[in-house]
Amino acid sequence: MRKLVAGNWKMNGLRVEGAALARDIAARAKAAPPVAEIVLCPPATLLVPVGEAIAGSGVALGAQDCHPEGKGAHTGDISAPMLKDAGCSYVIVGHSERRQDHNEGDAVVRAKAAAAVAAGLCAIVCVGETAAERDSGRTEAVVVRQLRGSLPPKLTAGQLVVAYEPVWAIGSGKTPTPHDVAAVHGRIRDALRELAAESAAVRILYGGSVKPANARALLSIADVDGALVGGASLVVADFWAIARGCG
Ligand code: 13P
Repeated sequence: MRKLVAGNWKMNGLRVEGAALARDIAARAKAAPPVAEIVLCPPATLLVPVGEAIAGSGVALGAQDCHPEGKGAHTGDISAPMLKDAGCSYVIVGHSERRQDHNEGDAVVRAKAAAAVAAGLCAIVCVGETAAERDSGRTEAVVVRQLRGSLPPKLTAGQLVVAYEPVWAIGSGKTPTPHDVAAVHGRIRDALRELAAESAAVRILYGGSVKPANARALLSIADVDGALVGGASLVVADFWAIARGCG
C-alpha cells in the first residue's frame, strides 16, 4: 500500500506564510512526485487558500477536527460536510491535544469519525498512551481500548487511517524504540482484524517527534504505513525530507 505522510500544522500559520508553505510543497510534489501520499492539515482558516495552493499537485487537504453533527447550533464548530465542501479529503479526529484540551473521550471521537466518513472524508483516528501509562506497562492495553472506543464499526481502508501517537513523544524530541513502535503497530493491526472491514489495508501512521533524521528508520518498521508530522511539517525542507524518506 502507498505510505501516507500527513502534516499537522496545529494552531500555526497566517495566510501569507501558510499559502507560501503549501505552494512550496505543491511545487516539489509536481517536480518530483513522492512515493508517499502527502496530506496537509492546516488550521481551518487556511483550508481554502492551502487547497488552492495545492490544486493539481497530487497533495491532499485535511482538517484537524470536525463536529459530530452535520450542522446546527454549535457556535465555533465546523462540521464534516463543511470540510468536504472546503476541499478536504481527510480529517484528523481524536488527537491527544483535543482529548486533553477539550476533554474528548472515545465516544465523541467515534461520533466524529462516523460523521467524517458519512461526509465522504477519510478519518485519521489518533490513539496513544501517556508517559504514566507507558511507565506502568499499559501501552498496548490503552491503545486497544482507545481503538475499540473510537472506531466506528467496519470501516474500509479508504475511510480510515489510524495514527499511533504516544503523548509523551509529541513535541518532546523523544521517540519510542523501533522495537516498541513495531510492537504497538502490530497490536493495532491485530485489533483492526476485529474492528475494520479491511484490516490489512488500513494505514497505521506513527506520530511524535518525526524528523528527517529518524524518518527513514521509523518508516521502515513493519506496519508503519506513514507518519503524522507536527513541528517538522512547518519547515518545507524537513517535511519534504520526511516524505522522501518513504522511498
Ligand atoms: P510533533 O511532530 O511536533 O512531535 O507532533 C506530532 C503530532 O502531534 C502530530 O499530530
